[in-house]
Amino acid sequence: MKVAGAICASVFTAVRPHIRPGVSTAELDKIITDTIRSQGANPACLNYGDPPFPGAACISINEEVVHGIPSKDRILEDGDIVTIDVVAEKDSYHGDAARTFFCGEVCDEWRELVRVTRECFWKGVAMAQVGKRLGDISHAVQEHAEGHGYGVVRDLSGHGIGRDMHEDPDLLNFGRAGRGIRLEAGLCLALEPMITLGDYHVEMLSDGWTIVTADGSPAAHYENSFAVTDDGPLIFALEPGETAPF
Ligand code: MF3
Ligand code: CO
Repeated sequence: MKVAGAICASVFTAVRPHIRPGVSTAELDKIITDTIRSQGANPACLNYGDPPFPGAACISINEEVVHGIPSKDRILEDGDIVTIDVVAEKDSYHGDAARTFFCGEVCDEWRELVRVTRECFWKGVAMAQVGKRLGDISHAVQEHAEGHGYGVVRDLSGHGIGRDMHEDPDLLNFGRAGRGIRLEAGLCLALEPMITLGDYHVEMLSDGWTIVTADGSPAAHYENSFAVTDDGPLIFALEPGETAPF
C-alpha cells in the first residue's frame, strides 16, 4: 500500500509543471500513464467500470467535481482549477489520491476553496485513530467545510481500499460523530472530500462519468489512501516534502 501510494504521489510531482494554459487533458493523461507504467504499476482507472473509463486518471476542471474524462479537445485555460485523481495498482495493491491544481492565475476565492478542501482531509484523517468511529472522520470533514460556508458533495464518498480499488466501508464526507464502525489497526481507507463553492448538489454528464455541480459552481477534491495504525494514521500518498500538519 505504501508503494502504490508513493506512485500516486509521484504522478503529482511529474504532472504539476505541465499544468499550464494551452495543454490538453489528454496530454496530461499521457504523462500520468507513462509515470505509472515506468514504475511497474498499472493505471487502475483505465477501463474501470461501465462504461469503461477511457483514461489513466480522472481530470476534472472547475465545475467538474470528479471523473472528468481526459480529452485532446479539452484545453486548460488561465484561471482554471484542475483536479487530478489517480489510482495506481502495484503488486495487486492500490493507491488512490487526488489533488486540485491551479492553472495560471487563479482567483483568491477559488484558491481558498482548494486550500480548505485540503484542510478538510487533514481534519478528517486526524480522527482516524484506533477506537474512534468512522463517523468521527466524516463529521470532522463536514464541520470544517460547512464552517467555511462550502458545500459537501453527498452523492460520492471515500472508501476502503486494498486489493480492490473500492472496498467496504464507504467513508462519507458528512455524518455524525460517535457513529459507525469502530476503527481498528490495519484498516486501509481512502478519504476524499469533494467540496463546492456553492450548493452541494451534483449531476452526471451524458458521457456517463463526468460529475458536475448542478449550479455550475467550482469544486475542489483532495484524496489520500492511508492505514489506521496504533500510532495514528499512516498516509500512503504524500509527495516528498508533503507532511502531515499534526
Ligand atoms: N479515483 C476515484 C476514487 O477516488 C475513482 C476513479 S473512477 C475511475 O475512488 F473510473 F476512474 F476509476
Ligand atoms: Co478514491
